[in-house]
Amino acid sequence: MKQRTQVGIVGSGPAGLLLAHLLARRGIDSIIVEDRSRDYVENRVRAGVLEQGTVDTLIKVGVGERMLREGLVHNGIEIRFSRQRHRIDFPSQTGGKRITVYGQGEVVKDLIDARLDAGDPIHFEVEATSVHDFDGDQPQIRYRKGGDEHEIACDFIAGCDGFHGICRQGFPEGALTVYERVYPYAWLGILSESTPPADEVSYCHSERGFALLSLRSPTLSRLYVQVDPDEDIDNWPDERFWEELELRTATGGGDDHIPVGPVLQKGITPMRSFVVEPMQCGRLFLAGDSAHIVPPTGAKGMNLAVADIRYLAEALAGFYKTGDSRLLDGYSARCLRRIWKAQRFSWWMTTMLHLSPDDTPFDRRRQIAELDYVTSSEAAMRTLAENYVGLPFDDASAGSDT
Ligand code: FAD
Ligand code: DHB
Repeated sequence: MKQRTQVGIVGSGPAGLLLAHLLARRGIDSIIVEDRSRDYVENRVRAGVLEQGTVDTLIKVGVGERMLREGLVHNGIEIRFSRQRHRIDFPSQTGGKRITVYGQGEVVKDLIDARLDAGDPIHFEVEATSVHDFDGDQPQIRYRKGGDEHEIACDFIAGCDGFHGICRQGFPEGALTVYERVYPYAWLGILSESTPPADEVSYCHSERGFALLSLRSPTLSRLYVQVDPDEDIDNWPDERFWEELELRTATGGGDDHIPVGPVLQKGITPMRSFVVEPMQCGRLFLAGDSAHIVPPTGAKGMNLAVADIRYLAEALAGFYKTGDSRLLDGYSARCLRRIWKAQRFSWWMTTMLHLSPDDTPFDRRRQIAELDYVTSSEAAMRTLAENYVGLPFDDASAGSDT
């Protein structure tokens, strides 16, 4: 079967769904193809912290209603090290900005509901196999459904298909430069039906390795411990996880007991920094994880995807309105300025808080000195806070209707 649309979108993660929504608001048609089922993409447990700019974007474009009701607004984070707790306040350090704890799956549900309510389809369980002719003005996406081959003809292709997608692979040989760092550790994360152990997201440095206390609701905890990158999940029965978490997060205070509950999900996330440049080739544009990955410390992944999409939607809207392709031409450079700052921040948070097998006693002392500085200097706290709540979008986008 042959179909035709203005923008063909591969992937219905946060990037693809938000792009379709922003385009629809401007009367631009799109078709989304998604490899997985609706249930799978809605219930995949991933990111949980939304920057202020992400929250503002979702509200402004009419998909923030449930987030405003159910999301948990946090005014800071906690950092624990040397068995002590320290707090970094956000509003006082950033001119009033905050973060919102609201799971990525919930953002995805809200965007899927908005699209289906408007009568616009998403093709689930359809695998895009290749992208073609994006060096001209009639690109195509080929996809497979139930053994049959199909084609979408479009004006532009948005590769929102994540790190393992096919769009990045469609770039011609030699067109991309890859910048990459793989870390010698991973996160073992659980989602548990238990009271969150801390009021705010807590990043914990310890001699046994990093741990993170987070949450999804007053009765759902999201908890992580640093493990080896090749760790076998079977080595981590629930009891071992709870014991290790308690040891890594304990402080001198009496109020740091970890409430235990049924484990609903458990998984290991490898840690990698990855960027490709440029993020576009002719009429093929990459956005979100298809172009860049950050290690999760600092909670930047989904927020970066939202920022790319703001820029891409604005550039496509400009083109359809006036025929001016300047914002499209500058898309990659504009995204990359923000991406590299988030890369730097995520790398910094990660290396400050994790133990690496290559570390020497010097490195450990240096880490503690850095944590001490970050939690005691106003200037350093402010630096962390302004990056954590999210750097501003650049000017061209600030005044736009996203
Ligand atoms: P994705 O959400 O990956 O969406 C891409 C979509 O494309 C997927 O639905 C996929 O099924 C689909 N797709 C792929 N190939 C094809 C194809 N050939 N045809 C059709 N569809 C295709 N970030 C944080 O900030 N904090 C975290 O705790 C955190 N945890 C994470 C845990 C894991 C296991 C992973 C993988 C990521 C995590 N991230 C986290 C990162 C964050 O979730 C991502 O940055 C975010 O999902 C990016 O959104 P995206 O839309 O670009 O990509
Ligand atoms: C969560 C994930 C992160 O990567 C992070 O830095 C903070 C919180 C979470 O899943 O809640």
